[in-house]
Amino acid sequence: MNTRTTLSVSGLDDVCFADTRLSDVDGAKGRLVIAGRDVESPGDRKTFEAFAATLWNEGRAPSPDVVATAARAIAAGRMAAFEFVRGFSPALSLEGGMGAVRSALSMLDESFEDPARITGAAAVFAAAWARKRAGIEPIAPDATLGHSADLLRMLRGTRATDAEASALDAYLRTVSDHGMNASTFTARVVASTGANLRCSVVAAMGALEGPLHGGAPGPVLDMLDAIGREENAVAWLEAELASGRRIMGMGHRIYRVRDPRAAVFERAIEALDHGGHRTGRLALARAVERAAEGILRAKHPTRPLHANVEFYTAVLLDTLGVDREAFTVLFATGRIAGWCAHVAEQRAHGRLVRPASRYVGDPPASE
Ligand code: COA
Repeated sequence: MNTRTTLSVSGLDDVCFADTRLSDVDGAKGRLVIAGRDVESPGDRKTFEAFAATLWNEGRAPSPDVVATAARAIAAGRMAAFEFVRGFSPALSLEGGMGAVRSALSMLDESFEDPARITGAAAVFAAAWARKRAGIEPIAPDATLGHSADLLRMLRGTRATDAEASALDAYLRTVSDHGMNASTFTARVVASTGANLRCSVVAAMGALEGPLHGGAPGPVLDMLDAIGREENAVAWLEAELASGRRIMGMGHRIYRVRDPRAAVFERAIEALDHGGHRTGRLALARAVERAAEGILRAKHPTRPLHANVEFYTAVLLDTLGVDREAFTVLFATGRIAGWCAHVAEQRAHGRLVRPASRYVGDPPASE
């Protein structure tokens, strides 16, 4: 009988691949530091631009001038990218937002070999895709607005309130970097070959698209819709697990406690509530989270499974009026800041990434 070894492929858990000054994820304590600031207390770095500027400043606190320069460069990137929207129409008409933005970014010229400009471009393409999908014309960016305010305006067609812009800032800065996650690792591997920044970003977007990484917030909202009322949560979640599916938005490779980003998003949703927004899903989400934690604790007593970043992403972006199909692409418009910073670190300090594998196939056949 022909028996074959079961192939073992590791997830590189606990393998430290690189030193970095960009972010630190403490999975046991549930703490995330991005470029020297706790995500839960960003201090004077409240805007996405300020966080991005720090990441692109090798993790050092930037002066107000450096932040202002980065903000202007991101805005200039938005303006320049919009010139391509009409020409990139076939790519931006693809069904999936990640594929559309990935394709459009891959067609950009060398003038976008710059973290700020490609970050601006990603936001423009994300918004253009979302509007084309809805059958409406993309809207030109406004360089006088902050990045979050302009992104919301380009998505929805209406001017964002300050509270809405702050909520999106909280979202984008909080997702801007997160240790050596799959898409960041992908960006670094590609950068290590000497490929350009656009190649790294496009490859990272491919990695982020998967449901185990960035593709879960849309399904979280589907789940909340399907559950509908708090009293349905336990039965629905149990049926989901019984059918072999995972609870979306729960569990994390690194965190053994609740993902600290969930608390940032909850606070951003609460702040929007004061602005009279529809935040009814927050109460339902909290009830579903409690029910899911209890059920998962009973099923996996030794493996803590708590809410991850995507759970409250779904509620926050929905409250901001973003379509669920655009959630992952919005995640990418924030994480791109971190990808660019990691590419720079990799170029400055890394070498070609080339791990080993173990051959367990058949020995060479003899003639
Ligand atoms: N729902 C149900 N069970 C879950 C679960 C979830 N969300 N997450 C993990 N588990 C279970 C697994 O089935 C596995 O059980 P087993 O040992 O009996 O097979 C155990 O917990 C360990 O899971 P594993 O796949 O080894 O963990 P991981 O570190 O590779 O996975 C995630 C991390 C995020 C991929 C995983 O928790 C998951 O699939 N979550 C849902 C998708 C999601 O929210 N993705 C966004 C991530 S930010």
